Amino acid sequence: MKNSSFSSALLFWYHKHKRDLPWRKTKEPYKIWLSEIILQQTRVGQGLPYYQAFCQKYPSVTDLANASEQEVLRLWQGLGYYSRARNLHQCARLIVEKYQGKFPDCYHELLALPGIGDYTAAAIASFAFNLPTPVVDGNVFRVLSRIFGIKDDIGLQKTKKVFRDYSSKLISSSAPDLYNQAIMEFGALHCTPAQPKCISCPFSNYCYAFQNQAQHQFPVKVKKRAVRNRYFYYYVVKSGPYLLMKKREQKDIWQGLYDFFLLEQKEATDPIQLLESILPDGLWLEQVQINEPSATYQHRLTHQLINAQFLVVEPQNHQVLSNWKQGFGLKSFTVQEVLDLPKPILIDNYLKEDIF
Ligand code: ADE
Repeated sequence: MKNSSFSSALLFWYHKHKRDLPWRKTKEPYKIWLSEIILQQTRVGQGLPYYQAFCQKYPSVTDLANASEQEVLRLWQGLGYYSRARNLHQCARLIVEKYQGKFPDCYHELLALPGIGDYTAAAIASFAFNLPTPVVDGNVFRVLSRIFGIKDDIGLQKTKKVFRDYSSKLISSSAPDLYNQAIMEFGALHCTPAQPKCISCPFSNYCYAFQNQAQHQFPVKVKKRAVRNRYFYYYVVKSGPYLLMKKREQKDIWQGLYDFFLLEQKEATDPIQLLESILPDGLWLEQVQINEPSATYQHRLTHQLINAQFLVVEPQNHQVLSNWKQGFGLKSFTVQEVLDLPKPILIDNYLKEDIF
């Protein structure tokens, strides 16, 4: 199918099936912008009364700019995510101050405004100014991925460009505004997530997903593994110029690197009580001076977040040092040796900030 036939078929479908929505009957960038910001927040049915209320109370961007923030927040009440309302208000003020109340008719200038991301900038540029800037939203991901069998992970930021590039080739040059409205409407009404109406679809003859009965595999979204929080309590046994460290032998992160005596917990806990609870026979807390715990150091790994606290522990005398060293399988290192040992970045950061 030629690109032009794709957009003709899409526009034909749109003319027959589109909903009658007020923001589609205007070319005023202000109204289009309002509708898009509201619709980022809610469905069409719930957004409609908010759109009407804003248009009625603030018929122009100047009216909105002149309102107080409190008034705007009041009208936004119920939509949630109030930073959007604040951005809306700030953006209105900027349009008045910097652009004399006229929205810029350029995608990149729109993109630079508060609260306007690539979707909204493309929507305003096409709906208000007929620029061929393709919108990419959830509907577009679904429609194009199914029809063209696009398997890129939509959870990745770079995938947006893949879809934008597809749409750039397909977008109608004579009616980019209608093309953008149509592809989103087609996704919202026809090529729906759970029960797409493939039997009456104008694209079914060559839709990759329909031909392969794989509608529910598109768009591809790779599930992110949950991040595991781990709580590390490090006891930095210190005596004069020596630090006691340990090689990590277990099958875990940082195998082969050196760190301190470590107690790990599934949840945050009190490090002194924790130490006391595991002391073997012959070792007591009274034998050592325990300094204030450090601030929590956070270290992010792909699927883990390490929350680490360090406590400097100073044995009273040589015998105690020797007992603690043996009790926990530690080795003494001079400052220079510690500097030379291979260590996790977390340990390096702690040493640089709190010890050396
Ligand atoms: N959702 C976001 N923008 C929309 C629009 N212009 N029409 C219908 N639904 C939308």
